[in-house]
Amino acid sequence: MQAQDRHRVIAIDGPAASGKSSVARQLARRLGFVYVNSGAMYRAVTWSVLNSTIDPSDRPRIAELIATLSLGGVLRDRALHLLIDGVDLTGHLHEDRVNDEVSRVSTVPEVRNVLVARMRDYASKHDLVVEGRDIGSVVFSDTPYKFFIDASLKVRAQRRAAQGHRDEIARRDQADSSRAASPLFVAKDAEVIDTSHLTVDAVVDEIVKRLRAKNLKI
Ligand code: DC
Repeated sequence: MQAQDRHRVIAIDGPAASGKSSVARQLARRLGFVYVNSGAMYRAVTWSVLNSTIDPSDRPRIAELIATLSLGGVLRDRALHLLIDGVDLTGHLHEDRVNDEVSRVSTVPEVRNVLVARMRDYASKHDLVVEGRDIGSVVFSDTPYKFFIDASLKVRAQRRAAQGHRDEIARRDQADSSRAASPLFVAKDAEVIDTSHLTVDAVVDEIVKRLRAKNLKI
């Protein structure tokens, strides 16, 4: 998809628990853009795999499953939620078993192709803030507005624990960064912001300042 065929996209990538969800959601609200959490989309597909009889290591069967699922989107509070067979799985996405398997399921290329196509379809309809791992590097690689949000492993682990979730973020970072399909890395033209010692408001202020410097009309 060419940039002229879609609305404006701000890409927010980063490792697990880097604060990118809070930043992306608040940034979208501030700008009046629609928020898309691509990690939630991979989580929803993972939940569907776990809810089927398919072994999460069985890549060919996961590829078959994704082709049979009916995917839709619903806009709630200016955030797009993926519907799978008409169901919004938001309440299930941080279950331990989803945390455990999502990195593996998200390496299946057919899963990525389907979800990337959905994100591009969303961008044909709305101005977006999209967070994930490969948004600036792959999904919307031509957007001039890309940020990489990071924080130390210690701070990220503390943030996840404070949310009450068991999540082996170091293991997921390793899996997400070393996989063959669209690994997590800092796109060469992304602006890196370390949030270890910053509040969400401070990070959003900083991004808005940088977007203005790039002449984004906001
Ligand atoms: O952002 P999150 O921690 O909720 O993402 C969950 C997983 O989804 C992450 O470990 C890898 C996968 N993911 C991905 O492969 N590509 C994305 N753009 C976003 C998430």
